[in-house]
Amino acid sequence: MKHVLVTGGAGFIGANFVRYLLQVEPQVHIYNLDALTYAGSLENLKNLPDESRHTFVQGDICDNDLVMHLLREHEIDTVVHFAAESHVDRSIHGPAAFVQTNIVGTFTLLDAAKTVWKETGGFAGRRFHHVSTDEVFGSLAPDDPAFTETTPYDPRSPYSASKAASDHLVRAYFHTYGLPVTLTNCSNNYGPYQFPEKLIPLMVLNAVQGKPLPVYGDGKQIRDWLYVEDHCEAIYQVLKQGKIGETYNVGGGNQPYNIEIVREICAILDELHPQGAPHDRLITYVQDRPGHDRRYAMDTTKIQAELGWAPRHDLKSGLRATVQWYLEHPEWVQSVLQQEGYAAWLERNYAKR
Ligand code: NAD
Ligand code: DAU
Repeated sequence: MKHVLVTGGAGFIGANFVRYLLQVEPQVHIYNLDALTYAGSLENLKNLPDESRHTFVQGDICDNDLVMHLLREHEIDTVVHFAAESHVDRSIHGPAAFVQTNIVGTFTLLDAAKTVWKETGGFAGRRFHHVSTDEVFGSLAPDDPAFTETTPYDPRSPYSASKAASDHLVRAYFHTYGLPVTLTNCSNNYGPYQFPEKLIPLMVLNAVQGKPLPVYGDGKQIRDWLYVEDHCEAIYQVLKQGKIGETYNVGGGNQPYNIEIVREICAILDELHPQGAPHDRLITYVQDRPGHDRRYAMDTTKIQAELGWAPRHDLKSGLRATVQWYLEHPEWVQSVLQQEGYAAWLERNYAKR
């Protein structure tokens, strides 16, 4: 791994991964291709561990000429593909962008990698890693066993359907053309730099502003939460030791109800930001998300047994560190809250709920 193309590296997980990789791989140069949609920001890439080994390129993963140029020009040996439309609620309001970026974009990257790598020495020493989600497996009943790598796909939102399609394309390029791929399917991430449209940062920032905390439905949906740095480490371990063609499930091994997460955030804020306490008075039950998946849970036996990966952060300490990060980064918070389109999104998703 010398010249790495990271896609979506100005987004939440991508930016955390860029930081992580610059730290653990002192020789690597990262080319970071990101369209800077509403979800991406150069604010996420300030104060990197080593700026000189990071090159930012603003562009679209659907732009075949650009992608081919980057792969050739920078002799990319490793692609780590994060770029996506990633928010389920937005996929309900506007699915077209999800089909374009998640399916057409992934196809563009796969085909460009196949073409350029074939022309320039073949697939040996090259790797295409695709970052995917547990949502492709659908929704679990309370007593169902956790998702394994062989659980049949059953996506139920435009977001998860488009990610499922992208996973199928990645595997098709392995089986048909021998492209050296690996995949990770991960559960819900949380941590620094997450855009406040997702549950945890939305609740933290709304609570600090004294705004309602909108809990969908009965709040008893279950997610398997993972601190973002643990996800970055899992991807790194797969890049280093993962077997070509294989998929690895990644998850935090905890499954609280959403309402428990929200209450825990309120309790942490009561202590760290006592103005406005008790913050749980702001909890407001609102109309449920259409097609809302009830429960996710990941069986991570394979990655633990084969690659020795396990999460380092438990939910309690990770959540506290996350709340603290948002409180200690008011400039980042302001830049995101003032971003064009954010207020309109809140209006669109919550005003009529
Ligand atoms: P994010 O929405 O925070 O960031 C996505 C990034 O992709 C943004 O920087 C955006 O500008 C960029 N992007 C979007 N469309 C693009 C395009 N056409 N061309 C180039 N760049 C584009 O997403 P995230 O939460 O960081 O998720 C990253 C990846 O991890 C996604 O593939 C997502 O499906 C997957 N994932 C996310 C989670 C999670 O909990 N957030 C869990 C499992 C898997
Ligand atoms: O499971 C992995 C997935 O996790 C990733 O693939 C997605 O990219 C990521 O967005 C996330 O999807 P979710 O839909 O689970 O995340 P979100 O933060 O939007 O919602 C988490 C839970 O909280 C979900 O059950 C819906 C609920 N929720 C969310 C919001 C934004 C609320 O109750 N109120 C809210 O305002």
